Amino acid sequence: MNVLGIETSCDETAVAVVSDGTPPRVRANLVQSQLAEHAVYGGIVPEIAARAHLDLLDRLIRAALDEAAIGLDAIDGVAAAAGPGLIGGLIVGTMAAKGIAWAGNKPYVAVNHLEAHALTARLTDSVTFPYLLLLVSGGHSQLLACIGVGRYRQLGTTLDDAAGEAFDKSAKLLGLAQPGGPAIERAARTGNPRRFPLPRPMRGRDGCDFSFSGLKTAIRERVLACDVADPGIVADLAAAIEQAICDTLVDRTAIALRRFRAQHPAGTALVAAGGVAANARLRARLAALADDASLGFVAPPAGLCTDNGAMIAWAGVERLRLGLADPLDAPVRPRWPLDPGAYTAKPPR
Ligand code: KG4
Ligand code: ZN
Repeated sequence: MNVLGIETSCDETAVAVVSDGTPPRVRANLVQSQLAEHAVYGGIVPEIAARAHLDLLDRLIRAALDEAAIGLDAIDGVAAAAGPGLIGGLIVGTMAAKGIAWAGNKPYVAVNHLEAHALTARLTDSVTFPYLLLLVSGGHSQLLACIGVGRYRQLGTTLDDAAGEAFDKSAKLLGLAQPGGPAIERAARTGNPRRFPLPRPMRGRDGCDFSFSGLKTAIRERVLACDVADPGIVADLAAAIEQAICDTLVDRTAIALRRFRAQHPAGTALVAAGGVAANARLRARLAALADDASLGFVAPPAGLCTDNGAMIAWAGVERLRLGLADPLDAPVRPRWPLDPGAYTAKPPR
């Protein structure tokens, strides 16, 4: 089975072709970032993102098919991210996918972007259910028990900002480039994480929820009191920020791991996914945590942690294998929780 995957939920236009099989194969995986278009505005402008997707998508689909060396006739299904995300981009991607599916009489799959992140470890490492997932991206920080395709139970979520947002906003304060996560990771390499103490939000509290707003304020105050023209100071601040965010994520994941193991004794692995899971320090810390619990740790290669088309195509493969195609009038869903029964976290009183 060959599935075409289209990702346009945020500021990356991405198209991939993935083949089913043992092991599955990523035949093409193209990502075109729109960073430059948004940079002058200091953040992602939804209307610009939608127009850029529209501008880029046709060529990217053609290039992905060329790279995969297959024609549309050899495509067995078309998957697109249908949410959560920015509505304009979601409409562009899903309409393109529906057009191809309709013209070629192929099944269409409306993919939940978060599910695509959640299932990527099954594409890269054939992880079997159930597993515990730390999903950390620019818009989400969640701990989920992944029980099956379409079956996720939320153990924790963020009460305010996402981990990726904490990286991005900190980078902005430090005068570093966007996306902030990789920029902080690079700057932190030569830094001393102990020079500037920062808080560890929620540490020691019961439950698996995250909070980053207090840390964000502390980082802001710390940075404003420093000379960010000094590369040594920037390196030390970046190292302190990276360590504080990682400590917070690992602390909450440790609690979730205990709960997950109690509820799922046959649990197979701790999996990390989403853009922040590309962070090497975080990966090393999570690997050690899983090792202590005698559990495997899996994180996809960095390029499959950040937004990409292969994860959408793979989610399409997984769903089509179960006969879960969607009708061509399936809507986009700018808000689309993975666990419909999950509470929406409220700020702590
Ligand atoms: O999954 P993703 O590509 O897009 C969303 O669905 O949000 O995640 C993007 C986020 C950004 O906040 C970016 O700064 C962060 O992932 N990120 C990283 C790293 N690479 C990307 N954070 C920390 N370290 C990294 N190496
Ligand atoms: Zn994402």
